[in-house]
Amino acid sequence: MPDSVAPLIAAARAAREHAVAPYSNFKVGAAVETADGTTVTGCNVENASYGLTMCAERVALFKALSEGRRTFRRVAVVADSASLTPPCGACRQVLWEFCGDIDVIMANLSGVERRVRLRDLLPMPFAGAGGGASRE
Ligand code: THU
Repeated sequence: MPDSVAPLIAAARAAREHAVAPYSNFKVGAAVETADGTTVTGCNVENASYGLTMCAERVALFKALSEGRRTFRRVAVVADSASLTPPCGACRQVLWEFCGDIDVIMANLSGVERRVRLRDLLPMPFAGAGGGASRE
């Protein structure tokens, strides 16, 4: 990798501490890195109406978008699970729309790490009516 992913993973791990997860008790942290190297973090935020829960990845990405960030290099996701935690289907779709085929770095609290391309997590993405942003 051109740059160490350690700081991005550390940021996601720190964000995980802020998770609001009283229903699942499964805390997740995420960090997106913008084209200029800025890191924006997020954590999962659950709701008593479970379906309104927001994943850490989308919180991080929406925060970044709301601050005017539009170009992203990679995203890190950290959870306390033996098998690493990949973004859910909804997050894959949203990440694809705004980030394209970025690196997705997954890590757990034991230091296990894995990097995959978003394209490999979402092989046939919906790109919007009429092709959308056309990331094919
Ligand atoms: N969750 C995330 O925040 N990101 C993922 O990649 C997987 C799942 C959250 C949603 C919910 O608060 C909890 O983990 C259990 O599904």
